[in-house]
Amino acid sequence: MDIPTLRNAYVAKKKVLVRTGFDLPLDADGNITDDTRIMRSIPTIRYLLEHGAEQVIIMTHTGRPKGNEARLRTDKIAKRLSGILEEEVTKIDDLGENGIPDPKVDRIVMLENLRFDPREKSKEASERDSLGKQLATLADLYINDSFSTCHRDHASMTSIPKFMPGCIGLSVEEEVTTITDALKEPERPFVSIIGGVKADKLNAVANLLERVDKILIGGALAFTLLKKFGKEVGKTRTDTEGLSGFDEIITKIKESDKVILPVDAMLGCEFKEDTGSKVCTIEGMDPEWMALDIGPETIRMFREEISRAKTIIWNGPMGVFEFEKFAEGTKEVARAMAETDAIKIVGGGDSGAAVERSGLKDKMTLVSSGGGASLELFEGKELIALKALVKNYP
Ligand code: 3PG
Repeated sequence: MDIPTLRNAYVAKKKVLVRTGFDLPLDADGNITDDTRIMRSIPTIRYLLEHGAEQVIIMTHTGRPKGNEARLRTDKIAKRLSGILEEEVTKIDDLGENGIPDPKVDRIVMLENLRFDPREKSKEASERDSLGKQLATLADLYINDSFSTCHRDHASMTSIPKFMPGCIGLSVEEEVTTITDALKEPERPFVSIIGGVKADKLNAVANLLERVDKILIGGALAFTLLKKFGKEVGKTRTDTEGLSGFDEIITKIKESDKVILPVDAMLGCEFKEDTGSKVCTIEGMDPEWMALDIGPETIRMFREEISRAKTIIWNGPMGVFEFEKFAEGTKEVARAMAETDAIKIVGGGDSGAAVERSGLKDKMTLVSSGGGASLELFEGKELIALKALVKNYP
């Protein structure tokens, strides 16, 4: 896909509508607890201001609101953004009443949470298009700078580009290019690490198996597969129902010498932080206990593959990393990656959070902002919001 980019767009004297991914972690009162996602779009916003855009109109969704939840309004985001840019950011509550203010007075404008309007996520294309068309009237150029929602068929991602020219912003360009280049022409050995719970990650395993030299599988997904292969997994939480439809890839996994599954586990007595724990081999699994992390021998094997790799992509934790006692496997994967000089890509979501919590983010080539979107690229899919841009570029 030849995706139009901001670097090739002409922005001077234009009103520009920027879709950002400011879906931020908030406390109970709606205060921002982490502004990483704002920081990602600062280069795009600054680029527009420095290249003479007449007005920059910023829009985002936050959370999954049911109606107009006060906690999810974008006022605090506008304020934080204003502090970072050291420029006034005018928050608009309602497009209907007064519309967008005069760009001579208000050069940077922030719209209300897009998901307060049910048309944003509507299942009806005509409803999404009606919002897309309305938003498109606000500006001359649309910029998608929200990688984390590029897999969503929502009005602000796929409908707006039907009604105006658009391109990707700098942060989306960086994420898409880094991930797709690594998948297309990896430096070898190319190692992928897949964890987490859901069996549908096998879609990614199926695509990656064709490309990588090794796949290391941990997390509940590994124990789901081990159970399928007839191993005792005790009371481990698995997603065997989720395996239906994956027969072909399961057979490939069983037969492939590229796949490394855990040989031991850190077991817990119960699913809670302060439960008793012990290490156990997979062959000697205690049927009364549950695997909550990969074990030390598995960590050693994973470390060895990671240390040899020249390209590494990782999605999903190795265990219940929210519980300190069972975070070691996930932390060790992060540490092993941090120690190599390979190209290192971490899919967003839990593995991204684990890397940030370990303070190792700066050691990675990319910690993606989008769990779901990066996983779709790992699966070999084209992101729907990027396809929407290709057709309509002037
Ligand atoms: C994310 O946090 O991954 C994005 O903001 C997408 O959010 P959603 O899953 O609610 O669409």
